[in-house]
Amino acid sequence: MTTHHLITDLGDIGFGVDIGGSGIKGAPVDLVAGTFRSERTRIPTPQPSTPAAVSDVVAKVVSSFGIEAGERPVGVTFPAVILHGVAKTAANVDKSWIDTDVDTLLTARLGRSVHVVNDADAAGYAEVRYGAAKGAGGVVIVVTLGTGIGSALFVDGTLVPNTELGHLEIGGRDAESRAADSARDTEKLSWEEWAKRLQKYFRTVENLFWPDLFIVGGGVSKKSERFLPLLTLRTPIVPASLRNDAGIIGAAMLAAELG
Ligand code: BGC
Repeated sequence: MTTHHLITDLGDIGFGVDIGGSGIKGAPVDLVAGTFRSERTRIPTPQPSTPAAVSDVVAKVVSSFGIEAGERPVGVTFPAVILHGVAKTAANVDKSWIDTDVDTLLTARLGRSVHVVNDADAAGYAEVRYGAAKGAGGVVIVVTLGTGIGSALFVDGTLVPNTELGHLEIGGRDAESRAADSARDTEKLSWEEWAKRLQKYFRTVENLFWPDLFIVGGGVSKKSERFLPLLTLRTPIVPASLRNDAGIIGAAMLAAELG
């Protein structure tokens, strides 16, 4: 963990933290450029990933930014359905998060205003504002492939939150259990084998939503040339351009906009 210099002129700086299954990452964000303002901090996610243990790590990440409490709100991503600041699901985190008011918990722990948002929604928002879908109209679906599958749906740039398309039931199975990047990893699938599952997944989604564009995010999107060319879809599909930074950037932007 690095401690950054004290940032005194907030100007267009926002703050984002991404709570993931393996790491909790954060950085000050330049809200005009949509880039990190300084190096990001990453601390492994505590196991079990209970609300108390995770809050402590989020506090450490935020304190590494070198900013005073009580300033601009911090945007935080969380891998679950978030309704008005409350986690309603917990597919890949400790079940004790269900019905936890994450906004209130982290606001109290950090002593500053916090806005929590679903991780894929945050990443998608950054891609629509600064990344691969910048300026794109129509229906855009951002799919993040990681431990689970996250989704973010945009209609003319407006987010429809909590779509949870990773949990579509396909062939009697929860889609993310078959097609997430973690399935490729644990089942040691070749790119071709994994692409067959992705083909089925994206085909199902496009038949239901008829989007104008798919964007694929998550860490594996940096190897998109290994699997995107293997897909045959009617919808254009491109890798996310902000990669794994998108969640932090999107969360910071959403928090700054909410004030
Ligand atoms: C969760 C989503 C999350 C996605 C990616 C899914 O299991 O239900 O809320 O966006 O994983 O982390």
